[in-house]
Amino acid sequence: MESLQIGKLKLKNRLFLAPMVDVTDLPYRILCRRAGAGMVYTEMVYVNAILHENERTLNMMKTCKEDSPIGLQITGDSVEEFEKFVKLKKLWNKFDLIDLNCGCPSMRITGNKAGSYLLKNPKKIAEIVRILKKTGKIVTVKIRLGYDKNNVLDVAREIEKAGADALTVHARLGVDGSKIKADWSWIGKVKKSAKIPVIGNGDVFSGTDAEKMLKICDGVMIGRGAIGDPMIFTRILEYLDGARRRCFPATNLPRPPAPDSRLAEDEKRSIKENLKLFLEYLKLEEKFYGKDVDMGKIKYIGTNFFKGFSGASETRNRLMSLKSFDEIKEFAENFV
Ligand SMILES: Cc1cc2nc3c(=O)[nH]c(=O)nc-3n(C[C@H](O)[C@H](O)[C@H](O)COP(=O)(O)O)c2cc1C
Repeated sequence: MESLQIGKLKLKNRLFLAPMVDVTDLPYRILCRRAGAGMVYTEMVYVNAILHENERTLNMMKTCKEDSPIGLQITGDSVEEFEKFVKLKKLWNKFDLIDLNCGCPSMRITGNKAGSYLLKNPKKIAEIVRILKKTGKIVTVKIRLGYDKNNVLDVAREIEKAGADALTVHARLGVDGSKIKADWSWIGKVKKSAKIPVIGNGDVFSGTDAEKMLKICDGVMIGRGAIGDPMIFTRILEYLDGARRRCFPATNLPRPPAPDSRLAEDEKRSIKENLKLFLEYLKLEEKFYGKDVDMGKIKYIGTNFFKGFSGASETRNRLMSLKSFDEIKEFAENFV
C-alpha cells in the first residue's frame, strides 16, 4: 500500500489504529504496529490532567523507540489550558503529532464541554488548533459529523483554515455514540471540500470495508475491529495488496460456520496465533507497567481475544474470575 504524507510525516501506509481509552496503551499499540498499523495514537488524555502531571496520565503518555510514529491525543475545554500545555515542551516533545479530540461522546467529557461538545463551536476548535500549532508539531483533529446536528463541513473548513495538517472524520454525530451505522457519504463530502488529508473512521472490520473507504478518502482508521484482533491490520494489508491468502473476517465478530474443513483448520490456526498475541501483550504490559498494570483493562482486552471458538464464552467467564496478573498469564499460556 502506498504511503501517506501528513505535514512533514511520511507514513508507511494508510492504516490508522484509532485512539481508544483503556485499549491503545503502549503494549497494545506495539502489537498493532507489528501487525502493520501505519499510525497510532495514545488514549485520549485531558489537557488539564496533563498539566497536573498525575501518575495515571503520565502512564497513558508512555512511549518508546518502537512506538513511532506516535500521536498524542488530547482534549479539553479551556483555551487557557491549551496555552499552558504548549509552553510545557517536556510534556509533548517526544510525540510526532498532536491530535485534538473533538469526538468523544462520553458524558464525563461532554459535560465539561470537551470532546464532541467542541463541535458546537467550530471557531473555538480553530483557536485551539492555532494554539497547538505553536508547538511546531504536526497537528490533526478527530471529529464527528457534529454534536447533535450535522455541521461537519463548517467544522472541517475552520480546522483547515486554522492550519491543521489532517482531519479524521468519524461518521456519526456525538449524540449517536456508536450504535447507528456510520454514514460514510459525509466522509466523501469532507474529502471533496478539503485540501488536507482526510482519514475516514467508523465500521471498518475487513479488507473490503477498508478498500471501500480508501476510494472516498486518504486513510482508514480502525477502532473496534482491532480490539482483541491486532492482526486485522495484516489481513487488510494483504487483502489490499491483492494477496491470494484468504481474508478472514475479524475473529471478534460473529461469523458463519466454516464452509469446509480446510478453512476450519486455517481458522483454528489464526485463533491460536491471535491468542499468542495476547500472551505477548501480557509480557509487554509487565515490561512497561510492572506493578502498575491495570487488571480491569487486561481482563477487558483479554475477553476480546478469547472470541470466535466454541467454549469461548466459558473461557471469558473464567478469565474474568481470575484474581492476579500471574494467574491470567498462566491461564493464557495453558490455553495456547
Ligand atoms: C473502548 C473505546 C475507547 C475509545 N476511546 C477513544 C479515545 O480515547 N479517543 C477517540 O478519539 N476515540 C475513542 N473511541 C472511538 C474510536 O476511536 C472510533 O472513533 C470509534 O470506535 C469508531 O470506529 P470503529 O467503528 O472502527 O470502532 C473509543 C472507542 C472505543 C470502542
